[in-house]
Amino acid sequence: MDDLSPRPGELDRIETASRDEIAALQLDRLRTTLAHAYANAPFYRAKFDAAGIHPDDLRSLADLAKFPFTVKTDLRDTYPFGMLAVPRERLARIHASSGTTGKPTVVGYTKGDIEVWSEVMARSIRASGGRPGDVVHIAYGYGLFTGGLGAHYGAERLGCTVVPVSGGMTERQVTLIQDFKPRVIMVTPSYMLSILDEFRRQGVDPRSTSLAVGIFGAEPWTNAMRGEIELHFDMHAVDIYGLSEVMGPGVANECVETKDGLHVWEDHFYPEIVDPETGRVLPDGERGELVFTSLTKEAMPIIRYRTRDLTRLLPGTARSMRRIEKITGRSDDMIILRGVNVFPTQIEEQILKCRGLAPHFLIELTKAERLDVMTVHVEAQEASTAAEARSASAKELAHHIKSVVGVSSIVRIADPGSLERSVGKAKRVQDSRPRG
Ligand code: DLL
Repeated sequence: MDDLSPRPGELDRIETASRDEIAALQLDRLRTTLAHAYANAPFYRAKFDAAGIHPDDLRSLADLAKFPFTVKTDLRDTYPFGMLAVPRERLARIHASSGTTGKPTVVGYTKGDIEVWSEVMARSIRASGGRPGDVVHIAYGYGLFTGGLGAHYGAERLGCTVVPVSGGMTERQVTLIQDFKPRVIMVTPSYMLSILDEFRRQGVDPRSTSLAVGIFGAEPWTNAMRGEIELHFDMHAVDIYGLSEVMGPGVANECVETKDGLHVWEDHFYPEIVDPETGRVLPDGERGELVFTSLTKEAMPIIRYRTRDLTRLLPGTARSMRRIEKITGRSDDMIILRGVNVFPTQIEEQILKCRGLAPHFLIELTKAERLDVMTVHVEAQEASTAAEARSASAKELAHHIKSVVGVSSIVRIADPGSLERSVGKAKRVQDSRPRG
């Protein structure tokens, strides 16, 4: 794989600014954001008043900890436009994320917000190794989901030729990759694996394509999965993070030259890590829940939003801005099995250690004699694998899960292609335990 480090002069100046300069900019923008939210969003005014805090109380970045959190239900409760700090007429666009239950959460953007989003997305694509003039194949879903359009505007801003394929129609994805010869692909890692299957089905060597960079996100994925994708496609696999409530994709991105966690674009998004139980702010380096405050958003400033994503903050490396460690999972996805916390990413890591298994998997939770049982359904790599070899793989995986993750599990090996595929975010857990 080629060295894709940026050349001098290619970066935005702020990407290599001193920490002092970044902090001064953040404090200035934070003051403006808090004042804007308080003056123009009745939701925040009520919330700050109830907490006995005023934007003028912010004298340092650390003072942000005195302000109340915002949570997902706040967005639901104010559905659809109750969080806006500008008249609805000023919105250039609306996105929404589908909730598992009930109403979706709605987010709005002014023209200025779309500009900023495009800028941070362009920066993300460049950090991943994309350059002006590249053909960029976008297989994130277009529509209310922020993935497709967010990536699209960023790629255009960087000066790329965009192929807005969206998700689905996997056969056609493979055809277009062969015909249009993209250098960059943007897609969820789980859907990239379906595209890989399709290359094989069509008898095309995935290492032979023009793809040099994949920008993967919208769901947790492991370094083991990175290794798998890089090996099979002979391309760089880079992590992109974001969430609709804060903006969409492009809140943080890995740098291709280091692949050591995701640099948060701190000139627009202020990160904190808090203890998920107490809400106390934790020092950099400690693991906890990621919280974001927007620094430049107009339509929907977001103050101390609790993402539920678990990670830690690390110092900058390839850029001055701090990094978040690859996200292990959301607190909502955590399975508590007989007292042990288990994340689907831990299972993914163990699967990728076992020969003969493909990283398509589903964790099923059931109850037997009042005890929780975890069954891991995972596909064999080859349909022809003999029953004995399959049962050896099942034993091996159960052993790794027990010794590394610390829980007993039943492993069922399924035929290749038999587990449901998603064209966007993969569903990793099916909870079939009786309620109540
Ligand atoms: O998934 C935005 C996005 C689109 C990010 C395309 C990256 C690429 P939501 O649908 O609002 O927005 O979901 C946000 O997805 O809180 C995380 O739990 C998860 N997530 C997003 N990126 C990553 C990642 C988009 N790189 C939620 N690693 C977030 C782990 C991720 N989880």
